[in-house]
Order: sequence, then C-alpha cells, then structure tokens
Amino acid sequence: MLHVYCTNLHHLQLHKLLNHEFSVAIAEISWLNTTMEIQRTKELRMLRDRLQENPVVALLGPRQCGKTTLSNQFAKKRSASLVHIFDCEDSRDLARLYNPMMALEPLKGVVIIDEIQRRPELFPALRVLADQNQSRRFLILGSASRDLISQTSETLAGRVSFIELGGFASKTVQHTPN
Ligand SMILES: Nc1ncnc2c1ncn2[C@@H]1O[C@H](COP(=O)(O)OP(=O)(O)OP(=O)(O)O)[C@@H](O)[C@H]1O
Ligand SMILES: [Mg+2]
Repeated sequence: MLHVYCTNLHHLQLHKLLNHEFSVAIAEISWLNTTMEIQRTKELRMLRDRLQENPVVALLGPRQCGKTTLSNQFAKKRSASLVHIFDCEDSRDLARLYNPMMALEPLKGVVIIDEIQRRPELFPALRVLADQNQSRRFLILGSASRDLISQTSETLAGRVSFIELGGFASKTVQHTPN
C-alpha cells in the first residue's frame, strides 16, 4: 500500500512524483480528503436545536467559512426523504424554484436553500410557507450577511433565527424565539 502524507499535494505534482503508482495514490488522497472533514459538533447541535424552535434558520458567514459543508453534514444525519437541497447558484435548482410556492409547498422535513442572497424574491414565499406547516423547516445559507439580515428581518420577522459562522467557531447574532 502506498502512503501519502502530504494531503495538499496537487494531483499533477503527485503524478510526476509517483508516476507508476498514480491511480493508487489518487485513491489514497481521496480517502484522506474524506476522512479529513471536521465534524462541527457544536454547530450541528445548534442547527438542530434552532430548527426545532424556529421555522427558518439563517446560517450566515463570509465566503468559504464552511456553510455548505456544515449543512451537508447536517443533511447526512437525516433521512434523505426529509431533506431537500436547493442551491441558488445552480441553474437546475433555480429552474425548480421558478414557482417557489409550487416547488416548496409539498415538501416535508428540512428544506435547505444555499446562496439565498441571490434570490431575495424567495423571502415572501418563505414567510407564507413558514406560517403554514409545522413539519417543514427552512435552513437558508447566505454569504452576504448584512444584506441578508436586512432583507429577512422585515419579511421573516419573528420566524427566523440567525447563526453566524466564522472560521471554526460560531456565535449567535440574533435569536428570535417563536
Ligand atoms: N468541517 C470542515 N472540515 C474540513 N474542511 C472544511 C470544513 N468546512 C469547510 N471545509 C472546506 O472549506 C472550504 C469551504 O467550504 P464551504 O464550501 O462549505 O464554505 P462556504 O461557506 O459554503 O463557501 P461559499 O460562501 O463560497 O459557498 C471547502 O474547501 C471545504 O472543503
Ligand atoms: Mg457554500
């Protein structure tokens, strides 16, 4: 078995270095990448608790701070039929959200909407849906913290709890109980 200890090694460098065992090395790198993901236990617990108490939870934070990874970790802990993921940077998901009421109303469980700052027109629909059904929760992810807060604070007032994710620590910036 070939052991690769430098996980930041680019695949091309690896190819040059380990030409004859390239495919084995790639498999090893993939394994290392998989196991290197840090479970953000505290943040996962916070997400779970907030989603129990609020119809909408907004996970905010700067680019690349780990919002999508955290929401994927959260989703993996749940039954696939009770998690629905939409990414507003994916044109296929945007097409599905063309009529948000029709797309979201039938869903049960947790609906995750990533990069929501790109589709602020979803907020009025979320407000209606949040009031409608106790078995459906929304986890919305956004990179434009201040903009998102100003948009949501009016439309979703009293329905949303904000979590700000920064690096590998999180803190509450606002918590609006039911
Ligand atoms: N818990 C983690 N353990 C290991 N790596 C992580 C973890 N969370 C995030 N990363 C890494 O950090 C990078 C950014 O993560 P991610 O895409 O989740 O951030 P993001 O906040 O959603 O970024 P963006 O705002 O650009 O969408 C990725 O390369 C990801 O693999
Ligand atoms: Mg992301």
